[in-house]
Amino acid sequence: MSGTRILLFTGKGGVGKTTTAAATALRCADAGLRTIVLSTDPAHSLADAFDVPLTSVGSPITPMLWGQQLDAQERLEDAWGEIQSYLQDVLGWAGLDALEAEELSVIPGLDEIFSLSDIKSFAESGTWDVVVVDCAPTAETIRFLSLPDVLSWYMERIFPMERRLVKAVRPILTRVTSLPIAGEEVFDATRRFYDRLDGVRELLTDGERTTVRLVVNPERMVIAEARRLSTYLSLFGYQVDAVIANRLLPEAITDPWFKAWKDAHAEHLSAIEDGFAPLPVLRAELAPEELVGVERLRAFADLLYGDRDAAAILHRAEPLSVERRGGDYVLRIELPFADHDDLDLGRVDDELLVRVGPYRRGIVLPDSLKRRSVAGARMVDDRLEVTFVEQGEGRP
Ligand SMILES: Nc1ncnc2c1ncn2[C@@H]1O[C@H](COP(=O)(O)OP(=O)(O)O)[C@@H](O)[C@H]1O
Ligand SMILES: [Mg+2]
Repeated sequence: MSGTRILLFTGKGGVGKTTTAAATALRCADAGLRTIVLSTDPAHSLADAFDVPLTSVGSPITPMLWGQQLDAQERLEDAWGEIQSYLQDVLGWAGLDALEAEELSVIPGLDEIFSLSDIKSFAESGTWDVVVVDCAPTAETIRFLSLPDVLSWYMERIFPMERRLVKAVRPILTRVTSLPIAGEEVFDATRRFYDRLDGVRELLTDGERTTVRLVVNPERMVIAEARRLSTYLSLFGYQVDAVIANRLLPEAITDPWFKAWKDAHAEHLSAIEDGFAPLPVLRAELAPEELVGVERLRAFADLLYGDRDAAAILHRAEPLSVERRGGDYVLRIELPFADHDDLDLGRVDDELLVRVGPYRRGIVLPDSLKRRSVAGARMVDDRLEVTFVEQGEGRP
C-alpha cells in the first residue's frame, strides 16, 4: 500500500462508533497491515472495547495493532505552554485568581487539535499502513473535521495581520494600559502550534487516502442525523466511503414480541440503502453479548466486512469538482440531502462562501475560476452547481 490509509468512524452517540472502529482496526492488523487506532472522543472507550489499558504514547494490542489514548493535559503543557501562560496573565489582569485563570486558559477543542496533529504525524512517520480514528459524536466531529479549514483560514488571513498590528501598537499600549500584550513568543508559539497542523486538511480530504465511515442504527433520529452529517462532511470536502448499519435484529429472532421492531428495522434499512445509494451499506446485527475484547471484535469484524478488504476505499466520489461547459465553468459541490432553503451562497474576492444549515465554508476558488464572475447557482439532485462566466458578461 502506498501512503498511509486513514479511516474515520463517526455517527450519533452510542451507535457503535468505537466498536466498529476497533473491529475495523483489528481486521486491518489481522490482514498484515501495521495499524494504529486512536480516539478523538474524550470518553476514551477504546481501551474498554479492547479490554486493555492504552497509553498516550500507544500500546500494543496485537502484534500488528496499537492503540493510543490521548492525554490532552500532558500535551497542553508542551505545546500550548507559552500561549496558556499569556492567557493566564490576561485573565489574572482581569481579576481572576490563579486557579480560575488556569482553568479558563484551557481552550475547549484543544484535544481535537492534538488528535489532528497526531493523525498527521502517524501518517507521516512511515510506521503505519493504516490509522483508524474513532471520532466523537456528530456535533464534535463536525467541529473537529471543519477545524483544519477554519485554522488555515485564520492562519493565512488573520494571523499575519494580527501579528503586524500587535507589533505596531504594543509600544503605545504598554504605555497606556497594564493589560498584558501578547509578545512575539506568543505569536511564535501559535505559529509553531499551527505548523503541526500544516497539511492536515490536504491529508484528510484526499479521498485516495482518507475516507469516513458513517455508523447508523435502524432508527429514525439516528438516520436523520447521519444524513445531515453526510451533507456537512461533503461541504468540508470529506469523502464518505460506506455506511455501517449496526444493531440490526438478527433473522434468527422470531419471537412475536419483536415483530414490530423487525418490521421497523427492515423499513429503516431500506431507507438507509435508498437514501445513501450509491454508497455501500455494511450490515451488522445486534450481537448476543457486549462486544468487548479482541476475540468478539474479530468475529464482529468478520460479519461486518465479509469478503471485503476493510482498508480498501469502498466508494469513490468527488465532493468538489470543476467542469467546463461550453465557455463557462461549473463548480460542483456534492451536498447529499441538502435542502435548497438551507443554502446560502456569497462571493468575497477569490472565495466562495457556502453556508448549509449552521455550517459555513469559505472555498478558495481555483485559478481557473478566480477571474470569472458567478452567473448563477442551482441544486441538481444532490449537487450544488455554481456557474462562472467571463467577467463583464453580466448575465443575471
Ligand atoms: N452490534 C452490536 N451488538 C451488540 N452490542 C453492541 C453492538 N454494537 C455496539 N454494541 C455495544 O454498545 C455499546 C456502545 O457502543 P460504542 O461502540 O461504544 O458506541 P459509540 O462509540 O458510538 O458511542 C458498547 O457497549 C458496545 O459493546
Ligand atoms: Mg465511542
